[in-house]
Amino acid sequence: MEIEVLIPENLLRKRVRELAEEISKQFGNSSITVVSVLKGATVFTADLIRYIKNRIELDFIRIKSYRGKEKGELKITLLPELNLKGKQVLIVDDIFDTGESLKRVYDEVMKHSPKTIKSCVLLDKKVKKRVNFRPDFVGFEIPDYFIVGYGLDLNEMYRGLPYIGYFKEGE
Ligand code: HPA
Ligand code: MG
Repeated sequence: MEIEVLIPENLLRKRVRELAEEISKQFGNSSITVVSVLKGATVFTADLIRYIKNRIELDFIRIKSYRGKEKGELKITLLPELNLKGKQVLIVDDIFDTGESLKRVYDEVMKHSPKTIKSCVLLDKKVKKRVNFRPDFVGFEIPDYFIVGYGLDLNEMYRGLPYIGYFKEGE
């Protein structure tokens, strides 16, 4: 299976900087508690927070969903250590697919009584959503391809690719 480039490195860098600016503008002077969704959002998060001007606190949440290309059951396997009570939280995720995983993370963060919650995803895949929920910030809309690279994996491989690549369905 060959990987084709969907979003090259320079485009990623440009858009991530723009997103950081949009986020800085929206949050004004307040500090932001970033809750990054492991493991897929790590690379995106590392780039994004370096361009957000606000004071940043960083923590992680883990939700497991995919088994290879098949969708498994959703389970939160790690919670943030920081106290989120009264915080302005920004959830950062890699990809918005059916939406169930981000919605689940949102609901979990909500239980910890933050002041506000916003969410940011790098990719929004054009598939039918199963939730009535949309992220506040979106990097790119992408077609329904299986994506790897820049944090995203296929069976734990390819997370280190510096670009977003894809396998066309059926290949
Ligand atoms: N690639 C990797 N992980 C994913 C994808 C994808 O296309 N969609 C949801 N999780
Ligand atoms: Mg993931």
